[in-house]
Amino acid sequence: MVSRVIPVDPFDLVIFGGTGDLARRKILPGLFRRYCAGQIEGDVRITGAARTEMDSEGYREMVAEAIAEADPQAARQSEHLAAFLDMLGYVVVDATGEAGWAELARLSRPDRIRAYYFSVAPSLFGPLAERLHQHGLTDGAARIVVEKPFGRDLASAQELNAVLAKHFHENQIYRIDHYLGKETVQNLMAIRFGNMLFEPLWNSQYVDHIQITVAEVVGVGTRGDYYDRAGAMRDMMQNHLMQLLCLIAMEPPAKFNPDAVRDEKLKVIRALDPVGPDDVVRGQYQGARNRPGYRNQVGNRDSTTESFVALRARISNWRWAGTPFYLRTGKRLKERASEIAVVFKDAPHSIFGEEAGRHRNILTIKLQPNEGIELGVTIKEPGPGGMRLIDVPLDMTFAEALGPEEADFPDAYERLIMDVIRGNQTLFMRGDEVEEAWAWTDAVIAGWEARGDDPLPYDTGSSGPDDALMLMHRDGRRWREIKA
Ligand code: BG6
Repeated sequence: MVSRVIPVDPFDLVIFGGTGDLARRKILPGLFRRYCAGQIEGDVRITGAARTEMDSEGYREMVAEAIAEADPQAARQSEHLAAFLDMLGYVVVDATGEAGWAELARLSRPDRIRAYYFSVAPSLFGPLAERLHQHGLTDGAARIVVEKPFGRDLASAQELNAVLAKHFHENQIYRIDHYLGKETVQNLMAIRFGNMLFEPLWNSQYVDHIQITVAEVVGVGTRGDYYDRAGAMRDMMQNHLMQLLCLIAMEPPAKFNPDAVRDEKLKVIRALDPVGPDDVVRGQYQGARNRPGYRNQVGNRDSTTESFVALRARISNWRWAGTPFYLRTGKRLKERASEIAVVFKDAPHSIFGEEAGRHRNILTIKLQPNEGIELGVTIKEPGPGGMRLIDVPLDMTFAEALGPEEADFPDAYERLIMDVIRGNQTLFMRGDEVEEAWAWTDAVIAGWEARGDDPLPYDTGSSGPDDALMLMHRDGRRWREIKA
């Protein structure tokens, strides 16, 4: 089975922050892979724009190096590489000054889809939008892509939305949450709304609880400055985990179109109950042997920022009243493993008696690293000796079920950038969604700030602080093991 690649229309893309980390690690290597796959063709122009003094030749060299670093295998496709580099150019641009703008305006082709990628600090979103407007580049063919963090609270997110809305319509603004570009995340919708099997059971009558785990092995690395002002709640929970929660909990939209999907997601966030003090646990990782602890790494001995957060969320609507959602995410945990587990209720009556034990169906959607779906079902233990029951997984690891080629999914960024060019906003966050997510997040943060709670220490390589385990134990439930 070879997947069909439909080329996108020719486009012009300007990457502000075109020499930055994200451009080098994700955006440019991603574009190159889409080029190799045949999705980008024809008269396409990709322009790096940044303050760094450099000419187009120098930029092409930088991009070739970045691709070699990010994806050595792809970079060996030297014919493709040369042709791809030919599409690239560079303009020295000052977001807050005049330098470079006339050149960008001159390069802009009115009959093209034009995308402007703001891969810069949010403080530059406003100045960039303003300059684009001044140079007549905000017409209907233009769209902008903005990266997270989209604000650090409701007020700053509202400000950013207002700044962008001055010159762009909502249908021109693509707010990236790269989790929405992950293959399995989209599969969540396919599983729910493409099968008859699950949706009838997808409610509090049949679902005991849902667990969402995004566990990382890495620490804060070199991003200490940013991270210490954000923490796991702002960095991961407000956006990535919240998006997963929305997709798993939302009502079926009438159509798979951007506003229908985003309307339903928004309703989930609006139906979230406030999180009380007993519903949330924060943690901060400790050092281990030759690995520095959190405070050391961010260079702040008194930091009270969390690198782990676990919480119990409740959605007050007909579908979910009575079914808790347990969410956790953290750095320096035992494994890199992200999954959503839908834990169904016990069968109402066991015909096999007490000794058969307690058995539950669990549907696990594995986001990374081994994308796939697993359904735990109860069967009879083989062999003689009576009716003993065991749980076995019906396992569909995509790489096995689809073959390694089909399961070689495009990186989230590749998919999302192609969606920008196609003009499909389904996998991007709408302004009202982001604001609602911040309103809920702000209240959680205000709660622990008012209580003066400090994060609890946890060991590098563990599953987080013990209190996070207690969060579920108190409800007579337990977290699934963090396992790739
Ligand atoms: C980013 C966060 O949005 O997502 C990082 O800022 C985090 O702190 C990263 O490491 C995780 O992304 P992924 O795709 O590796 O799960």
